Amino acid sequence: MEFYSFNITDSTNEQAKRLMQQTGAKGLLVSAEEQTAGRGRRGRSWVSPGGTSLYFSIGLRTGIRPERISGLTLVMALAAAEAIEELTSVQVGIKWPNDLVIDGKKICGILTEMTLRGTEVDFIIIGVGVNVLTEEFPEELAKTAGSIRMQTGQSIDKEQLLRKIVERFETMYAVYEKTENLQGLKAGYEAHLINLGKEVRVLDPKGEYTGIAGGITESGELLVDDGEHIRTVYAGEVSVRGLYGYV
Ligand code: BTN
Repeated sequence: MEFYSFNITDSTNEQAKRLMQQTGAKGLLVSAEEQTAGRGRRGRSWVSPGGTSLYFSIGLRTGIRPERISGLTLVMALAAAEAIEELTSVQVGIKWPNDLVIDGKKICGILTEMTLRGTEVDFIIIGVGVNVLTEEFPEELAKTAGSIRMQTGQSIDKEQLLRKIVERFETMYAVYEKTENLQGLKAGYEAHLINLGKEVRVLDPKGEYTGIAGGITESGELLVDDGEHIRTVYAGEVSVRGLYGYV
């Protein structure tokens, strides 16, 4: 995998996309110290100051079918959670589908994008932002956002964390690729899932509802018992909230 490291870029996802197109590489890793146009899910921006956080994206040409790509976001969430646990010895939770949480605060977000060629996947980009050494957030984020340093008191090395996440992701990707589902990774994922057994509000554009989260399917959907039926919630379509706040 080719590795590109930037002091500053617009967004490592954009940079990775451009490099995938220009170089034709099979796989690459792009990291940056700072982003001027960091992007989050649902069209939001990702505040990306220099020095304190990890911003990176992996670009991969993959034969995985388009409808199976969203599961890879959960794979990255698990890889990053385990890497952070290894370096801090602190438990990291996953808020479905892919926010990493320590002590109720979001410390990492993941944005997966794909570029199609016809009906097949040309390549995917998985972008990861981890708040590693951050000590303060803008007011509008302070309620939900945290960092590894703020939540654990530990200042871990960003480069080492990057290496650990990528190592784990590569191993788990090979497992995912075999079946194109989470069969081999579901148990590990559910062991980190903070929504498990908890009441959640599903913000479905077709109608909101409340239920108890009961794990995931092998495709990565969240199972929610609304009292009458077990419903499957697809990542990307809806947002899931705890009843009493972010978690
Ligand atoms: C989220 O909304 O939770 C996803 C945030 C993803 C942020 C990362 S930072 C590195 C990569 N480049 C981007 O522009 N976004 C992702």
